[in-house]
Amino acid sequence: MDTQLQEQQQTILVVDDNPTNIEVLFDVLDACGYRVAIAKSGEVALKRLQSSVPDLILLDVMMPGIDGFETCRQIKASEDLRDIPVIFMTALSDTVDKVKGLKLGAVDYITKPIQHEEVLARINVHLQLRHLNQTLETQVAQRTAELTASVTQLKEAQIQLVQGEKMASLGQLVAGIAHEINNPINFIYGNLRPAEEYIEDLLGFVDCYQTHILEAPAPIQARMEEIDLPFLRKDLPQLIRSMKLGADRIRQIVLSLRNFSRLDEKEFKPVDIHEGLDSTLLILQYRLKRRDSGSLPITVIKDYGVLPPIECYPSQINQVFMNILANAIDALEEQLQLDQQTKQSQSPHYSAEHPPTIHIQTLQQAADRITIHISDNGPGIPEALQAKLFDAFFTTKPPGKGTGLGLSISYQLLVEKHHGMLSCHSKPGQGTQFVIELPVHQSVASHPLAAIS
Ligand SMILES: Nc1ncnc2c1ncn2[C@@H]1O[C@H](COP(=O)(O)OP(=O)(O)O)[C@@H](O)[C@H]1O
Ligand SMILES: [Mg+2]
Repeated sequence: MDTQLQEQQQTILVVDDNPTNIEVLFDVLDACGYRVAIAKSGEVALKRLQSSVPDLILLDVMMPGIDGFETCRQIKASEDLRDIPVIFMTALSDTVDKVKGLKLGAVDYITKPIQHEEVLARINVHLQLRHLNQTLETQVAQRTAELTASVTQLKEAQIQLVQGEKMASLGQLVAGIAHEINNPINFIYGNLRPAEEYIEDLLGFVDCYQTHILEAPAPIQARMEEIDLPFLRKDLPQLIRSMKLGADRIRQIVLSLRNFSRLDEKEFKPVDIHEGLDSTLLILQYRLKRRDSGSLPITVIKDYGVLPPIECYPSQINQVFMNILANAIDALEEQLQLDQQTKQSQSPHYSAEHPPTIHIQTLQQAADRITIHISDNGPGIPEALQAKLFDAFFTTKPPGKGTGLGLSISYQLLVEKHHGMLSCHSKPGQGTQFVIELPVHQSVASHPLAAIS
């Protein structure tokens, strides 16, 4: 109650060396409900102003020590004080340059001897003016903040639109390629088994022939040597086996591509998160393995827990995995390059015992929540940059390589579209960890227990 009163009560600082003037002003102002502070010289006034800021200053011009003009100049020079209205007081007999005071920033003059009504009226006007000014400033600040927020929102929406469009066409392309490869690979794969059987039959037939006809006619003998029959016998089954392996791998890649694009799914769908992670890793495989000669490949350690199917938009979640894993590979590559540059002078960051590594851990954290930790032992992120990671367009990569959109989009997809969370923990020099949190179920309506409660 008391503080509230103090807040409403306005303080006026009276600076004057004349005790009679002070007394008169004190009585008038006090009677009108103002709090009055007194300073008997310019120096004292300036000192007081360091600890408490009044709402208005009544300033005598002629004072021993620094005069009113100088006091006013110093007040106006201070960032914190310059907005306080200053009213000069002059005796009618003083011949002062009134314009000088106004130029220094004073708002008004009153003349002594003080006319009570005039002082109060002028004080009132200036306090009101100041109040209006302040309200206006707050309003302008508020509107500016609102406008800035709208612009940011608009920018984010635009990014999402562009990125969404890009991902949709990339998804279509990937799905199209997967579809086209799927047919031919299926008949290669499907025919390999019978081909293998036919070859076995043929070779068996040759064996049978050799067993029963001990002395082969000369042209057959010559032909057998020409084709190196023993080597062919040994090599052909191996050849078929590696063809089968290759075909199998292509089938897996096709499956991953389809899994990754998952265009068909426009609504929340319970999926195996590990499948999404594996598909994404398979698509990134070429970046994990292909290294310059002499440089170490990237090791991936999977530490998968037991997870229930997670309700999500699978293609969006895969996009998040792609963004975070691609960043981890970028970071490890950067460190590998540093290693190569400083090979001679310093001990490298990585070795055969401590290879560049991506560690993926999944676990069910609570009945309705899972976490996915994706860590790398790359260069880490300087603390000052950590707060900016999720900002759109923030990148430390050279133009053409980084867009600065990966993490901001991932954050939006997880937080806004999936009610999940994305956070980053990093120690410079040691590595970076991104933690994805996702609810198992998306809406109360889709929760199996919802109907009961
Ligand atoms: N695993 C990581 N290790 C180190 N820095 C990272 C890692 N992931 C992200 N960053 C930093 O965050 C920035 C933003 O990432 P991102 O939004 O994906 O944009 P971009 O990859 O296009 O730069 C990167 O430029 C990089 O500085
Ligand atoms: Mg990125």
